[in-house]
Amino acid sequence: MSVRVDVRAAGREVIERFEAAGQGHVFRFLDDLPMRAAQALVAQAASIDLAHVARLAAAPKADSGARRIAPPGDELVRLGGDTAARREAARERGLEELRAGRVAVVVAAGGQGTRLGSSAPKAMWPAGPTSGKPLLQWHAEKVVHWSRELKRAIPFFVMVSPATARPTADLLRWHRFCGLDATWVRTPCQAELPALDDEGRLLLATTSRIAMAPNGHGGTYRALADAKLLDLLGDFGFTTISYVQVDNPLIQPVDPVFVGLHVEAGSRISSKSVVKTGPSEQVGVFARIDGSPAIVEYSELTPAQSEATDVNGELLYGQGNIAAHCIDLAFAQEMARTELPVHRARKSVRHVDGSGNAVTPSAPNATKLETFLFDAIPLAEQSLVMETSRAREFSPIKNATGTDSPESARNDLVALFRGWHDRAGVPAARGLLEVDPRLAPDEEAFRRLHGVATGA
Ligand code: UD1
Repeated sequence: MSVRVDVRAAGREVIERFEAAGQGHVFRFLDDLPMRAAQALVAQAASIDLAHVARLAAAPKADSGARRIAPPGDELVRLGGDTAARREAARERGLEELRAGRVAVVVAAGGQGTRLGSSAPKAMWPAGPTSGKPLLQWHAEKVVHWSRELKRAIPFFVMVSPATARPTADLLRWHRFCGLDATWVRTPCQAELPALDDEGRLLLATTSRIAMAPNGHGGTYRALADAKLLDLLGDFGFTTISYVQVDNPLIQPVDPVFVGLHVEAGSRISSKSVVKTGPSEQVGVFARIDGSPAIVEYSELTPAQSEATDVNGELLYGQGNIAAHCIDLAFAQEMARTELPVHRARKSVRHVDGSGNAVTPSAPNATKLETFLFDAIPLAEQSLVMETSRAREFSPIKNATGTDSPESARNDLVALFRGWHDRAGVPAARGLLEVDPRLAPDEEAFRRLHGVATGA
């Protein structure tokens, strides 16, 4: 018997399942592949739950026009004004939670820097203005600061995708876990889903590989559960997950005020917001959908909704999502068992055609299926949104140039550090400036570091 016939025989059950589902074309090149590649294709196909994919593809669109969208309500804690005292009290409560070892950090780092023109994980992008420390190290070192302050390990879980898993793990090892307690550093991997063409057929990325994409950060819940990390946190008495995305170097992965507000309010999932720069800024917005607090993605808001203002001229949907959340552990466990709504994104997916030739489409040719972590918000009986300052906490790295680029993030970091120096009366170097996140992840720690009274 030839080797190829062998692979066909061994994979018969999988191949027949794909043929029955109208997806048999993925094995079109099987007989021409080297043994290993043929085996890998069959193994990859075996790992795809076609019934699940079909269910997702047929599910009603998460952004169906039937939804009733309204501005956010009293779940929103605005910055300043009458909420200042509430925040002050929350800080103490948050510190209590941290001291008691009830807070763990999760960083979503499943994305590649495609829009940055890089195929490396975004986590590796140099973020330190003078040191060039990679984004992931930048976040980790803020956690190192808190870990030293509190004299206890803080779990640091980095959610990766199959494409970012290896380099991210290498980066962590190479940097000796960035100074964190290695036993509490983990890299759970999110699942992938196949990309579908306009007829709902799977695409081949190469003659021996089905085109796949990460299942969206909604996959965080299940990735943590499958790696048994939610159970681990529960066993060790952790109750709050502080979730951030790797692409924003300004975000505080450990924020006592946010944790405190979240816990005080009995919130199951809390979010941070900033005031949008204008109607066209590409951030999700806080809103109510059919009466429940929610985030509406920018692409799913009509131009009229994006531009609508209240009597004071403020945007009705003016609170932008900066993708930082506190999530109650039990709620995360519930969400790991819940099928979140599916979003379909039209994307250009490189693939091989029927003759095995590589095709780089010039226009979107496929649909990627994704779930969003924040779609859990409407399912929570209690949630909260905390407005924060853009200058302090939001400058994501998304595009190669212009807004939300490496350059804008570096400028914002330097401006932030300069502000800390100026207000504390500490002389600062001209030009590029950096404050080591291990020494001072925020202004308060910076003032303490220099012996300047807080708030003075
Ligand atoms: C996202 C938010 C948007 C928010 C903005 C703030 C979504 C759908 N939208 O937009 O509401 O205002 O950030 O910066 O998230 N990631 C994974 N796995 C995935 C997909 C993404 O780990 O499967 C991570 C990426 O590594 C990245 C982050 O999530 O760090 C953001 O993903 P991206 O696709 O860039 O979202 P945006 O469209 O920028």
